[in-house]
Amino acid sequence: MANITSILKEDRRFEPPRAFAERAHVGDLAAYHAAYRESLEAPDEFWGRIANAFRWTKPWTEVLDWSAAPFARWFVGGETNITDNCLDRHLATARRDKIAILWEGEPGDVRVFTYAELHREVCRFANALTRLGITKGDTIVLYMPMVPELAIAMLAAARIGATHSVIFGGFSATAVRDRVNDCGAKIIVTADGGYRRGQVVPLKAAVDEALLAGCPTVERVVVLSRTKTETAWVTGRDVHWADAVAGVSTDCAPVAVDSEHPLFVLYTSGTTGKPKGVVHTTGGYMVGTAYTSKLVFDLRDDDVYWCMADIGWVTGHSYVVYGPLANGATTFMYEGAPNFPEPDRFWKMIAKHRVSIFYTAPTAIRAFMRWGDAWPSQHDLSSLRLLGTVGEPINPEAWIWYRQKIGGERCPIVDTWWQTETGAIMISPLPGATPTKPGSATLPLPGIVPEVVDKDGHAVPDGSGGFLVIRRPWPSMLRTIHGDPERYQKQYWSQIAGAYFTGDGARCDADGYFWIMGRIDDVINVAGHRLGTMEIESALVAHPAVAEAAVVGRPDELKGQGIVAFVTLCAGRSVSQSNGAAQKMADELKSHVAKEIGAIARPDEIRFTDALPKTRSGKIMRRLLGDIAANRGTTGDTTTLEDLSVLAKLREQDEE
Ligand code: PRX
Repeated sequence: MANITSILKEDRRFEPPRAFAERAHVGDLAAYHAAYRESLEAPDEFWGRIANAFRWTKPWTEVLDWSAAPFARWFVGGETNITDNCLDRHLATARRDKIAILWEGEPGDVRVFTYAELHREVCRFANALTRLGITKGDTIVLYMPMVPELAIAMLAAARIGATHSVIFGGFSATAVRDRVNDCGAKIIVTADGGYRRGQVVPLKAAVDEALLAGCPTVERVVVLSRTKTETAWVTGRDVHWADAVAGVSTDCAPVAVDSEHPLFVLYTSGTTGKPKGVVHTTGGYMVGTAYTSKLVFDLRDDDVYWCMADIGWVTGHSYVVYGPLANGATTFMYEGAPNFPEPDRFWKMIAKHRVSIFYTAPTAIRAFMRWGDAWPSQHDLSSLRLLGTVGEPINPEAWIWYRQKIGGERCPIVDTWWQTETGAIMISPLPGATPTKPGSATLPLPGIVPEVVDKDGHAVPDGSGGFLVIRRPWPSMLRTIHGDPERYQKQYWSQIAGAYFTGDGARCDADGYFWIMGRIDDVINVAGHRLGTMEIESALVAHPAVAEAAVVGRPDELKGQGIVAFVTLCAGRSVSQSNGAAQKMADELKSHVAKEIGAIARPDEIRFTDALPKTRSGKIMRRLLGDIAANRGTTGDTTTLEDLSVLAKLREQDEE
């Protein structure tokens, strides 16, 4: 550690390694600046040229229509199909027999799909969907483990102009029901189960429970057999994946859709109790994810690229599936946990498959650090040439460890800042061009205009903290919130006039480098997973014993943030410390939240209080609660009934 501390003290910059820069798509800072300048001065030419590298069945007439801002239309009037660009386009080239998807299951099974094979499987499932009654404009939900069929199903939907909505396999039946009903899905594609840490995650059972609770739009459930687990079966509704594809043709012409045709809806947590369905469309998303994949990951034809995100999150959509495939890359997918059967599983797979680019989250890096250097050091990681991180601010210690122990001091690190809403990476080093500073996402990508502002929208001086906003529209931006355009407008484009409001705090240094400080709204980031505090509060108050709840994040060494819930119980339900009733109730409430949302939202700590501290106008004093939560460790009795009213009185003026 002494070594790491001294490096940090020097506030070091790391220049792109010369050997890397020499072969990179963008090989020096001047080239980056030139591209950035052009993207601002002549955005239509800039984006138009990038988009022209794709196949369009009908050319667009205008790059951007911003006349109905904040509702954007990109590549106006153009028609394309993203799977034509991710698959068919490569078939006439040497990439035809190149590996598109290389997959390893948690038990160790390996499957490989060349571009030609992936194309065939996508066509087959697209035809199966058609046979099940899906047509252009319909929505299908995918609730699956990390198996190749998940990517195949997404691409199959896109091929016939259906919109997909992937729900992360860790979400509960209640969460599935809410999302299915919000997007009005006609079909759910799921699996009997998936493997995680040696256990079977029962996905079909959760779908059955969701449907039992009421999902009136769902007509059919397609079930992939992954774990060979027995599941309940509803005849006429449920169909095995194998039967769905039996006898269908492997030819399926891509259906041309408008640039603005919705490709997917992905639910993410916001500042209310209800997750929002972020809508991404076709043309701009394709251009944005493909362009950023190529630049940030410096993708080359001989790379084996591994983004470890689950496809249930936006990172998996953009950087496991669409971005890499649009570039004709080999994308590696892994089904299970990083520490199964041992904490060196990732390093073993990197050595085995000769992975050259590895993209993960700071939480995972901190877990690897905790598990010890001996695990990676046993393996040959010399195939790696580039490392990436995403999802939360990375602490410089983790950054340096990643560089030394995984990257062998040889690999550049790209710390990529973006969001579900942005669709693609916004701020990141270009690995052959941008000097890096541990903890900073560095500079905006071409076409992206971020700024740190005060609450009136004025730029703050270098080094000062403020709100991170984006000044101009960009191709892969979200277009709306499904079914709630008003919320889209209000949430993202009204807080600072004329700018996209990210919800993040940041500062910009004298070199123009961005340092993301984390969320400034009621969203918390737990192990790189985004959760709304209101969402967890809604789950808590749905429990019959709970009168009121306030949820805050507190710093957590491993997960970035942990979840602390302050709870007031209903009259007559109060719990006493003496007989362990408080602990029992706390455990019950934690399980209740896990059932309502999913295990990722399970509070780390429940603290009972007689009343929640509020300002005179009735606002819960979250800052006070956050301070209280942060000052108390996880040890000791965490459920003590506390009297927050005195503190609240002391702090009231401060909050109002
Ligand atoms: O707070 C920022 C944090 O993650 C949020 C977006 O979460 P989500 O939509 O789930 O997408 C995660 C993957 C793109 C942001 O508002 N965040 C993401 N990347 C970084 C980050 N914070 C700091 N540094 C990053 N590189």
